[in-house]
Amino acid sequence: MKELRVAMLGFGGIAKSHKRAYEQFETEGTPIRLVAVCDIDPEQFTKVEQINLGAARPYRMDGIAQYTDLDKMLAEQSFDMVDICLPTYLHKEYTLRMLAAGKHVMCEKPMSLCEADCREMLEAAKKAGKLLMIGMCLRFEPQYLFLKEIIDSGRFGALRYLNLSRLSPLPKWSFENWFQKTEKSGGCALDLHIHDVDMVRFLLGDPRAVSAVAQDDVTRWQYISSRFFYDQFCVEAVASWMEAPGCRFAAGYRACFEKATVILENNVITVYPADDKPYNPELGKENRMAEEIRLLARCIDEGSEINTVNTPESAAATVALVKKLCESADLGGKILDL
Ligand SMILES: NC(=O)c1ccc[n+]([C@@H]2O[C@H](COP(=O)([O-])OP(=O)(O)OC[C@H]3O[C@@H](n4cnc5c(N)ncnc54)[C@H](O)[C@@H]3O)[C@@H](O)[C@H]2O)c1
Repeated sequence: MKELRVAMLGFGGIAKSHKRAYEQFETEGTPIRLVAVCDIDPEQFTKVEQINLGAARPYRMDGIAQYTDLDKMLAEQSFDMVDICLPTYLHKEYTLRMLAAGKHVMCEKPMSLCEADCREMLEAAKKAGKLLMIGMCLRFEPQYLFLKEIIDSGRFGALRYLNLSRLSPLPKWSFENWFQKTEKSGGCALDLHIHDVDMVRFLLGDPRAVSAVAQDDVTRWQYISSRFFYDQFCVEAVASWMEAPGCRFAAGYRACFEKATVILENNVITVYPADDKPYNPELGKENRMAEEIRLLARCIDEGSEINTVNTPESAAATVALVKKLCESADLGGKILDL
């Protein structure tokens, strides 16, 4: 693979996880090189931020140019791809700007705040002839790839039901507190629930109908419980930003098959076969952030047709499905056909 030079835009909470992926590439000798970072807040270049995903760790900044002005970074640095870790309300504006500047774009999830923005982003990438990928990172997470493999292979028979959950205290670390402003984040539905909504689509395709109930508090849709209607099985997903401040972030699933129940909780998967002892399957140790960036880098090198797992069109369809769930919640849980 030809060396790919990357710049990051936004260096807050999630950017520090992306940074670790670039450190992994350096250690592996993978030719994906972070050359510069840009954030309007220079304190972010040294801050070790604690976000809901887990313990923050120190990171290395040696050899990486640091900017607080994007135009200056564009003028002084040569790079092929930008990794956008900005707040959600800035995703569209900066994706369009970076595509117009001739850069390939990796942009954090959710793609943007509404379907019209997503369409503009897709069109801009086509017009620029550059690649766009959205960080739907669960599609690269070994714990969820295991679930996909057992559904696709039918190893435990047919799926009977699937429950997914993602529960967190209200995010408090963000720039100007943007997470807590629904018009900037889309609330828990678009920010957190989107991971499981996207996973449902990744695992099972689009449902024929959906419904949701929700509760508002500091943000709209701060708790949301969704149902996805398929003919052969039931799927439910719950997300919350209502948990007490001291609660640990918790995400997991329970999948019931004809011949086994499979549970992900506390970061451990346990398979309970119908006629044997429970066991913990061996999983890959891949870092999901590194794998999504690696896939975009390979697409830039080999052509976008190798991407069958995380297209920007699919990321846009996931935003549309979250919007449908919010619409249902606003109608008191009405079942809406797709
Ligand atoms: N994939 C995941 O699991 C995951 C987890 C957390 C957040 N996210 C997503 O990542 C994105 C960023 O979230 P975060 O938690 O890092 O937010 P954050 O507020 O911690 O970080 C955003 C950073 O952008 C900087 N910034 C704001 N405006 C800027 C501008 N115009 N130019 C340059 N820098 C600017 C801020 O100073 C801040 O450092 C969001 O879209 C969020 O939904 C994804």
